[in-house]
Amino acid sequence: MTTDYDPIAEQYQRSKQQPWRTFVECFTLMKLAGDPRDMAVLDVACGEGFYTRMIRERGAACVTGVDLSQGMIDLANKQEAIHQQGVEYIVGDARELPTTDQYDLAIAAYLLNYARTRDELQAMCDGIARTLKPGGRFVTVNSSPAYHFPSAPSFRQYGFETTAVGDWQEGTPITWTFHLEDGPFDIENYYLSVETHEAAFREAGFREVHWHAPKLSPDGLKDNTVDFWSPLMENSPVAFIECVK
Ligand SMILES: C[S@@+](CC[C@H](N)C(=O)[O-])C[C@H]1O[C@@H](n2cnc3c(N)ncnc32)[C@H](O)[C@@H]1O
Repeated sequence: MTTDYDPIAEQYQRSKQQPWRTFVECFTLMKLAGDPRDMAVLDVACGEGFYTRMIRERGAACVTGVDLSQGMIDLANKQEAIHQQGVEYIVGDARELPTTDQYDLAIAAYLLNYARTRDELQAMCDGIARTLKPGGRFVTVNSSPAYHFPSAPSFRQYGFETTAVGDWQEGTPITWTFHLEDGPFDIENYYLSVETHEAAFREAGFREVHWHAPKLSPDGLKDNTVDFWSPLMENSPVAFIECVK
């Protein structure tokens, strides 16, 4: 996996303020997460804690965030020092999570799309499944495995663009370029098919797998029209998945 978040941690944090993140990504993911009250929740690839804090605010009993990047965890801990939510942040690899069978809910925003091979994806899914109680749920958003990135239109109106160069096959890199006020920065993900994802979820022990289309928050229509959102909503480059152990 080649995207090192340490140097781009702060820019990534600012990219979370783009309206599509709030009104589509966050709205849909939180709907899928449901009511976390009284739950033990693990945020895998938590980054600077965007969803970790949100889940805790929504009433989760305890929340742990884990991420590979020390830079991201440092930013998360800075926020924790300000808000004092009692969230624990740990530097760690999703592929090496210990067996705890402890969590009711695991969330992972943009983790699985870092797997370049079926084996890497399997290791991530196995790691997450190991942390969940039987009946526990895993909800995730990623670059959509069903989306044909080589023919993607420009998403510049939302503040980002995607590029996929070379043969479209398992492991092909997808570059996401986020445009911020002070310039752009890139993140590299990888394509793995829907079938590869389904097989990895099942092998990890998830007995139900549901794919969900993005939803638009009604608040997204305060400043923008339906026409503005339709290219993103009708053929979405991000996919939401819910698995039950
Ligand atoms: C695009 S960021 C998303 C951060 C956060 N989930 C969010 O939505 O704001 C992807 C994160 O995945 C982390 N990551 C990538 N591979 C990982 C792995 N194997 N285990 C844990 N974290 C990983 C990166 O360090 C990065 O912080």
